[in-house]
Amino acid sequence: MSGINPFLDPARQAELYGHASRLAGRSSALMRAKTSGRPIPDTIVALVRDHHERPDRLGLVLDLGCGRGTSSLTLAKELRPRRVIGLDAASALLEQARLRTRELHGLSVTFHQGDFHRLPVTAGSCDVVVAAFCLYHSPRPQAVVAEIGRALAPGGLAVLVTKSLDSYREMDQLVAAAGLDPRAEQHESLYVSAHSGNLAGLAAVSLDVLTVEHEEHSFTFDGHEHVAEYLATNPKYDLAPGLYGNADALATTLHESMPDRPLTTTSLVTFVVTQSRGGRK
Ligand SMILES: C[S@@+](CC[C@H](N)C(=O)[O-])C[C@H]1O[C@@H](n2cnc3c(N)ncnc32)[C@H](O)[C@@H]1O
Repeated sequence: MSGINPFLDPARQAELYGHASRLAGRSSALMRAKTSGRPIPDTIVALVRDHHERPDRLGLVLDLGCGRGTSSLTLAKELRPRRVIGLDAASALLEQARLRTRELHGLSVTFHQGDFHRLPVTAGSCDVVVAAFCLYHSPRPQAVVAEIGRALAPGGLAVLVTKSLDSYREMDQLVAAAGLDPRAEQHESLYVSAHSGNLAGLAAVSLDVLTVEHEEHSFTFDGHEHVAEYLATNPKYDLAPGLYGNADALATTLHESMPDRPLTTTSLVTFVVTQSRGGRK
């Protein structure tokens, strides 16, 4: 363990996003557990419709840290802008995003590898910029927000999305109680750099904040197998060798340490809707 927060440690990015399977496994375990909370891509679309002056005539939409392209594809399908560009640092995820796009016809979406600290677009060229669940991978999220401010056209919107510091804390309690990582509840939150409590403040340095929405998302995992599937993708814990990434071994350890039972946990999801500085011109 390097001691650096795993989400901010450049040395761990390949492990986190070098293969599409980890992110897909994590999303699938979370989605099956979800009992409340609106789908994120649909909520972003609704926020753009509510706050952009002309949501039916959008030009360029940029989806930062687009991962496997889930939000990029929903933005393209629902808003039908002239073009959507998904930007991500991880080539394996972009490959998946391109494969998913091929199955849909007539959508103007392209995916590019790059770093969201330096956006590959000219100043004032974007009608919408989205940054969902990715700013917490930057040690300098305010620099990314400044870049978003540069990229936005007059009247352009940015929708920033993150989670609260205490997201999934019942999972931490379970991991500690099972002896998988006795210090599980003491580790720094993975979202420390850009979270529900500081995101609007970070954004306000370079952008005009229009609205902030907090929404509690709840998850009930069926039992140890389902919890283990999620835990296998979570880099937060100091697990014994052979457990990280190994859902079967994690489930076996959970069964040995406590009776099987469902686990309910929550995460506060925060949407910050911002506009280019100076608003509509
Ligand atoms: C948790 S995923 C979020 C994916 C997607 N936005 C979503 O909502 O499902 C975080 C993404 O941020 C990307 N990322 C991390 N650091 C980055 C950087 N400096 N530049 C671009 N993308 C980055 C990762 O590769 C990963 O795909």
